[in-house]
Amino acid sequence: MFTARVITVSDRSYRGERADMGGPLVRELLTTAGYAVDEIDLVPDEQEQIERALRRAAQDGVALIATTGGTGLAPRDVTPEATIAVCERLVPGIPEAMRCASMQITPRAMLSRAAAGICGSSLIINLPGSPKAAKENLEAVLPALDHALETLIGKPMDCSQLKD
Ligand code: MTE
Repeated sequence: MFTARVITVSDRSYRGERADMGGPLVRELLTTAGYAVDEIDLVPDEQEQIERALRRAAQDGVALIATTGGTGLAPRDVTPEATIAVCERLVPGIPEAMRCASMQITPRAMLSRAAAGICGSSLIINLPGSPKAAKENLEAVLPALDHALETLIGKPMDCSQLKD
Protein backbone atom coordinates (compact mmCIF):
# COMPACT_ATOMS: atom_id res chain seq x y z
CA MET A 1 0.00 0.00 0.00
CA PHE A 2 1.39 3.41 -0.95
CA THR A 3 1.08 6.52 1.19
CA ALA A 4 -0.41 9.73 -0.16
CA ARG A 5 -1.05 13.31 0.88
CA VAL A 6 -3.56 15.74 -0.55
CA ILE A 7 -2.74 19.45 -0.69
CA THR A 8 -5.66 21.78 -1.38
CA VAL A 9 -4.53 25.09 -2.85
CA SER A 10 -7.23 27.72 -2.43
CA ASP A 11 -7.26 31.27 -1.11
CA ARG A 12 -10.96 31.09 -0.29
CA SER A 13 -10.81 27.77 1.57
CA TYR A 14 -7.68 28.90 3.40
CA ARG A 15 -9.52 32.04 4.58
CA GLY A 16 -12.49 29.92 5.62
CA GLU A 17 -14.81 31.53 3.06
CA ARG A 18 -15.55 28.27 1.24
CA ALA A 19 -15.50 24.68 2.45
CA ASP A 20 -12.80 22.55 0.85
CA MET A 21 -14.73 20.07 -1.32
CA GLY A 22 -11.90 19.03 -3.65
CA GLY A 23 -9.44 17.81 -1.01
CA PRO A 24 -11.83 15.39 0.72
CA LEU A 25 -13.01 14.03 -2.65
CA VAL A 26 -9.43 13.40 -3.82
CA ARG A 27 -8.70 11.70 -0.47
CA GLU A 28 -11.78 9.48 -0.91
CA LEU A 29 -10.78 8.53 -4.47
CA LEU A 30 -7.22 7.72 -3.40
CA THR A 31 -8.38 5.76 -0.35
CA THR A 32 -10.74 3.73 -2.53
CA ALA A 33 -7.84 3.05 -4.89
CA GLY A 34 -5.83 1.62 -1.99
CA TYR A 35 -3.68 4.56 -0.89
CA ALA A 36 -3.13 5.43 2.77
CA VAL A 37 -3.81 9.18 2.83
CA ASP A 38 -2.16 10.73 5.89
CA GLU A 39 -3.61 14.25 5.73
CA ILE A 40 -5.19 17.00 3.70
CA ASP A 41 -3.03 20.11 3.87
CA LEU A 42 -4.64 23.45 3.02
CA VAL A 43 -2.59 26.35 1.69
CA PRO A 44 -3.38 29.65 -0.05
CA ASP A 45 -2.38 30.42 -3.66
CA GLU A 46 1.10 31.56 -2.59
CA GLN A 47 4.02 29.93 -4.35
CA GLU A 48 6.25 29.92 -1.28
CA GLN A 49 3.61 28.26 0.91
CA ILE A 50 2.77 25.69 -1.76
CA GLU A 51 6.47 24.85 -2.15
CA ARG A 52 6.82 24.49 1.61
CA ALA A 53 3.84 22.11 1.79
CA LEU A 54 5.21 20.04 -1.12
CA ARG A 55 8.69 19.82 0.44
CA ARG A 56 7.26 18.88 3.83
CA ALA A 57 5.24 16.05 2.26
CA ALA A 58 8.30 14.81 0.38
CA GLN A 59 10.43 14.99 3.55
CA ASP A 60 7.76 13.00 5.37
CA GLY A 61 8.35 10.27 2.78
CA VAL A 62 4.87 10.32 1.26
CA ALA A 63 4.86 8.34 -2.01
CA LEU A 64 2.17 10.32 -3.85
CA ILE A 65 1.39 14.01 -3.36
CA ALA A 66 -1.80 15.17 -5.09
CA THR A 67 -2.52 18.89 -5.18
CA THR A 68 -5.90 20.29 -6.12
CA GLY A 69 -6.43 23.84 -7.33
CA GLY A 70 -4.42 26.71 -8.73
CA THR A 71 -3.62 25.20 -12.13
CA GLY A 72 -5.53 27.67 -14.29
CA LEU A 73 -4.85 31.08 -15.76
CA ALA A 74 -6.05 33.30 -12.92
CA PRO A 75 -3.40 35.76 -11.74
CA ARG A 76 -2.87 33.88 -8.47
CA ASP A 77 -2.78 30.36 -10.01
CA VAL A 78 0.81 29.24 -9.30
CA THR A 79 0.55 25.58 -8.28
CA PRO A 80 2.40 24.35 -11.41
CA GLU A 81 5.18 26.89 -10.83
CA ALA A 82 5.60 25.72 -7.21
CA THR A 83 5.59 22.10 -8.34
CA ILE A 84 8.18 22.66 -11.06
CA ALA A 85 10.35 24.58 -8.57
CA VAL A 86 10.55 21.69 -6.08
CA CYS A 87 10.90 18.83 -8.58
CA GLU A 88 14.21 17.37 -9.71
CA ARG A 89 12.54 15.67 -12.68
CA LEU A 90 9.24 16.32 -14.43
CA VAL A 91 6.85 13.60 -15.64
CA PRO A 92 5.07 15.39 -18.52
CA GLY A 93 3.14 12.31 -19.64
CA ILE A 94 0.90 12.50 -16.58
CA PRO A 95 -0.57 15.97 -17.24
CA GLU A 96 -0.59 15.19 -20.96
CA ALA A 97 -2.77 12.15 -20.25
CA MET A 98 -5.02 14.15 -17.91
CA ARG A 99 -5.60 16.86 -20.49
CA CYS A 100 -6.05 14.37 -23.31
CA ALA A 101 -8.72 12.40 -21.41
CA SER A 102 -10.34 15.58 -20.12
CA MET A 103 -10.60 17.09 -23.61
CA GLN A 104 -13.13 14.33 -24.34
CA ILE A 105 -15.26 15.88 -21.59
CA THR A 106 -14.76 19.65 -22.00
CA PRO A 107 -12.65 21.92 -24.22
CA ARG A 108 -11.85 23.91 -21.09
CA ALA A 109 -9.57 21.03 -20.07
CA MET A 110 -6.82 22.73 -22.08
CA LEU A 111 -6.86 25.54 -19.52
CA SER A 112 -5.34 23.43 -16.77
CA ARG A 113 -1.57 24.03 -16.67
CA ALA A 114 -1.11 21.06 -14.30
CA ALA A 115 2.37 19.62 -13.94
CA ALA A 116 3.73 16.41 -12.42
CA GLY A 117 7.19 15.52 -11.25
CA ILE A 118 9.49 13.89 -8.74
CA CYS A 119 10.63 15.54 -5.52
CA GLY A 120 12.97 13.25 -3.61
CA SER A 121 11.18 9.90 -3.66
CA SER A 122 7.70 11.41 -4.00
CA LEU A 123 5.60 11.78 -7.11
CA ILE A 124 3.67 15.07 -7.24
CA ILE A 125 0.64 15.45 -9.46
CA ASN A 126 -1.41 18.63 -9.88
CA LEU A 127 -5.18 18.38 -10.27
CA PRO A 128 -7.59 21.23 -11.04
CA GLY A 129 -9.61 22.71 -8.20
CA SER A 130 -13.24 21.90 -8.92
CA PRO A 131 -14.22 18.53 -7.44
CA LYS A 132 -15.60 17.38 -10.80
CA ALA A 133 -12.42 18.33 -12.65
CA ALA A 134 -10.16 16.88 -9.94
CA LYS A 135 -12.03 13.56 -10.10
CA GLU A 136 -11.97 13.36 -13.90
CA ASN A 137 -8.26 14.18 -14.04
CA LEU A 138 -7.27 11.79 -11.26
CA GLU A 139 -9.29 8.94 -12.74
CA ALA A 140 -7.48 9.42 -16.05
CA VAL A 141 -4.08 8.63 -14.52
CA LEU A 142 -4.84 6.41 -11.49
CA PRO A 143 -4.38 3.14 -13.44
CA ALA A 144 -0.72 4.02 -14.13
CA LEU A 145 0.23 5.47 -10.74
CA ASP A 146 0.99 2.17 -8.96
CA HIS A 147 3.53 1.32 -11.62
CA ALA A 148 4.96 4.84 -11.51
CA LEU A 149 5.48 4.61 -7.74
CA GLU A 150 6.96 1.12 -7.90
CA THR A 151 9.44 2.31 -10.52
CA LEU A 152 10.23 5.38 -8.46
CA ILE A 153 11.27 3.33 -5.42
CA GLY A 154 13.49 1.21 -7.65
CA LYS A 155 11.47 -2.00 -7.48
CA PRO A 156 13.08 -4.34 -9.99
CA MET A 157 10.63 -5.18 -12.74
CA ASP A 158 10.43 -6.03 -16.37
CA CYS A 159 8.07 -3.64 -18.17
CA SER A 160 8.06 -5.91 -21.22
CA GLN A 161 6.14 -8.49 -19.14
CA LEU A 162 3.33 -6.10 -18.17
CA LYS A 163 -0.16 -6.71 -19.56
CA ASP A 164 -2.13 -3.65 -20.79
N1 MTE B 1 -10.71 19.04 -16.61
C1 MTE B 1 -11.79 18.26 -16.53
N2 MTE B 1 -11.66 16.97 -16.71
N3 MTE B 1 -13.01 18.76 -16.25
C2 MTE B 1 -13.21 20.09 -16.04
O1 MTE B 1 -14.35 20.48 -15.75
N4 MTE B 1 -12.15 22.31 -15.91
C3 MTE B 1 -11.13 23.13 -16.53
C4 MTE B 1 -9.71 22.57 -16.44
N5 MTE B 1 -9.69 21.15 -16.45
C5 MTE B 1 -12.08 20.96 -16.11
C6 MTE B 1 -10.82 20.38 -16.39
C7 MTE B 1 -11.15 24.53 -16.12
S1 MTE B 1 -12.62 25.35 -16.37
C8 MTE B 1 -10.04 25.19 -15.60
S2 MTE B 1 -10.07 26.87 -15.38
C9 MTE B 1 -8.79 24.46 -15.35
O2 MTE B 1 -9.03 23.07 -15.29
C10 MTE B 1 -7.99 24.93 -14.16
O3 MTE B 1 -8.67 24.73 -12.95
P1 MTE B 1 -8.08 25.27 -11.55
O4 MTE B 1 -7.65 26.69 -11.75
O5 MTE B 1 -9.21 25.10 -10.59
O6 MTE B 1 -6.91 24.40 -11.16
